[in-house]
Amino acid sequence: MTGTKIANKSRSKKDGYLHGYSAAEHNRLYHQARFLEEQVFAQVDFSGCKHILEIGSGVGAQTEILHERFPNAKIACVDASREQVSKARKRLSGAINKGLITVTEANAQDLPFKKNTFDGAFITWFLEHVSDPVGILKETKRVLAKKSVIHINEVLNHSFFVYPYGPATKKYWAAYNEHQIKLKGDPYVGAKLGNYLLESGFKNISTNFSHWHLDRRQSKLRDQFLDYWIDLLLSGSPELVKSKMVTKTVVTQMASELNSLRKNPDSIFFLGFVKARAECR
Ligand SMILES: C[S@@+](CC[C@H](N)C(=O)[O-])C[C@H]1O[C@@H](n2cnc3c(N)ncnc32)[C@H](O)[C@@H]1O
Repeated sequence: MTGTKIANKSRSKKDGYLHGYSAAEHNRLYHQARFLEEQVFAQVDFSGCKHILEIGSGVGAQTEILHERFPNAKIACVDASREQVSKARKRLSGAINKGLITVTEANAQDLPFKKNTFDGAFITWFLEHVSDPVGILKETKRVLAKKSVIHINEVLNHSFFVYPYGPATKKYWAAYNEHQIKLKGDPYVGAKLGNYLLESGFKNISTNFSHWHLDRRQSKLRDQFLDYWIDLLLSGSPELVKSKMVTKTVVTQMASELNSLRKNPDSIFFLGFVKARAECR
């Protein structure tokens, strides 16, 4: 067990989580999980697994999908935020009452489970928020039995591109990523997953870059992605304005630039992320 000074300490609002814990943010996470489900769950295969661990499970938005896709497995969720855990418990109460899902408030650096407890692990949009991803992956491996499989989906924020790319959007996106780094997160963690999994002792590692390239050919989907993306960027705006990383004017201009892309038939939305799969031997 990797006992550290922050072991078992709950994460709270004062840790400066970029997206915050508002009701709007909870709903955004539920919408995001369904909106991106096809790509996030592509190649995610836990069939045969009996006990899956989901780390950084938030409000249980991915958990709900995991449970639908792998109904024969029990799922244990862990999140360090009391707010998220309480929301997840409400949302997943049906499966919790049947003993199929548990939701635990804990820091992923120090998981409250014995070694070899699980045969599958799932991590999505989580490692970008932590300062020690390798420590967390090693701790995850500790609680996984031999022959377990881990699936991870993580951001690679360099991959975001829109055309035309407005100046306020550029400024906002640079501030968003810089701020995440200040909070000790990593907006480019996706590209590092292969090295991190290797360093953590996982074997048979594979990674691939999944992306959306939306232009005139899929204008309806492009517009839906613009809506999704504006919501995601705005979810960070209270924290960015409070930290003086951007002004309110830049926030308004960024939203207006992105909204105007819907009216431009030639506009382009491009975004990618990294999927990783590995095994414990
Ligand atoms: C962007 S949310 C993703 C939630 C979920 N995976 C999803 O896709 O909907 C990241 C979550 O990681 C949690 N988190 C951040 N640091 C953590 C840590 N050290 N241990 C456990 N959870 C943590 C936050 O509380 C937050 O709920």
